[in-house]
Amino acid sequence: MSERSLVLVKPDGVRRGLVGDVIARIERKGLKLAALELRTLEREVAETHYEEHREKPFFGSLVEFITGGPLVAMVVEGPRAIEAFRALAGATDPVAAAPGTIRGDHALEIQENVVHGSDSPASAEREIKLFFPDLF
Ligand code: CMP
Repeated sequence: MSERSLVLVKPDGVRRGLVGDVIARIERKGLKLAALELRTLEREVAETHYEEHREKPFFGSLVEFITGGPLVAMVVEGPRAIEAFRALAGATDPVAAAPGTIRGDHALEIQENVVHGSDSPASAEREIKLFFPDLF
């Protein structure tokens, strides 16, 4: 059965020219793109996207970072797409992320960790509705 996940190439990834690499890894794995857009997030959308982190000490800085330049939002689709993309991305902390993963190969800082992927079917539904309301 097919599943969808919301994937972001964050502003650090766009600035560093990593969009093509991320998409190549997604396609090489066999996941399909169902939607894709380059956009700069409004503060309100960023705060809603990261609402589960609202009480964390890094929330303000995370919102500044994620609204600080264009990002690429996409919906990827395929069997167990959520878990499949999280495996491609590697651990949230790029120093702990295995070499061969997106974060393991490209990042050192926990905030500027190149990509985001939905972490559950419930988050995927919520995040896809936020970024691509016309997809449902
Ligand atoms: P992401 O998978 O998009 O989910 C939440 C984001 O918050 C995470 O990737 C990082 O960009 C950021 N983040 C998580 N933990 C920390 C932390 N300890 N300090 C700063 N940013 C963090």
